Amino acid sequence: MHVAIIMDGNGRWAQRRGLPRPAGHRVGADAVDRAVTAAAGRGIDVLTLYAFSCANWQRPLAEVRGLFRLFRCYLEEQTQRCLEQSIRLNVIGRRDRLDPRLLEAIEHSERSTEQCKGMILRIAVDYSARWSLMRASQISSDIVDLDHDAFAHRLATVNHSVPVSDVDLLIRTGGECRLSDFLLWECAYAELYFVSRLWPDFDADDFESALLEYSRRDRRYGRIDDEAVDSPEVHHA
Ligand code: IPE
Ligand code: IPE
Ligand code: MG
Repeated sequence: MHVAIIMDGNGRWAQRRGLPRPAGHRVGADAVDRAVTAAAGRGIDVLTLYAFSCANWQRPLAEVRGLFRLFRCYLEEQTQRCLEQSIRLNVIGRRDRLDPRLLEAIEHSERSTEQCKGMILRIAVDYSARWSLMRASQISSDIVDLDHDAFAHRLATVNHSVPVSDVDLLIRTGGECRLSDFLLWECAYAELYFVSRLWPDFDADDFESALLEYSRRDRRYGRIDDEAVDSPEVHHA
């Protein structure tokens, strides 16, 4: 099972407490730990977290710098923990605009956890689904009939992603009901779960509620339920 999370609401969380927005991002990092532990504990195969979108470069420089600092610290501190929990780390997104020190930390984390056979933890940084779709379409090749798998493979390549299945459950905190350019291809048949809880408050119970709601959904992929087949006309309509 692949769960993806749009971790939204850090800024509002801080502002409601009269704190600067970066304080929300710092507390949000603790929520990341909780979500990772909860997901690994529930046997989730892949967890993809949206940490920074290509559009987020439009924020004030101080906030952007703070986020990248936080992200590098996270990798440096968490790699050992991932090893202990057999979690494989993978950072997806563009890499051409990242600070060399961050790139080094990413490559180190990915290399160190390469052999881990437990959950795959993908963190999306400088990520845009549209950008990756455009890039994947631009790769020249002699494949005439590019099928779903071949295109998915190209997408994974442009995103520096290890091979994973499509998203089953997409969670967005913070109350907004939109995708904000996240995993547009991979979420084609994902179940969407929007929750008003702000990301820094998100805990193991919230994760559990999302999984419970998911278990109640009926994934039909365009088909109809067997019980709904009531007459042969259904097939001829
Ligand atoms: C999500 O929280 C974190 C990032 C986008 C990096 P926000 O910073 O978007 O928080 P809100 O939506 O402004 O509350
Ligand atoms: C989406 O949140 C990006 C991340 C959580 C990293 P935003 O706060 O940037 O999205 P919008 O601006 O509300 O669409
Ligand atoms: Mg936001």
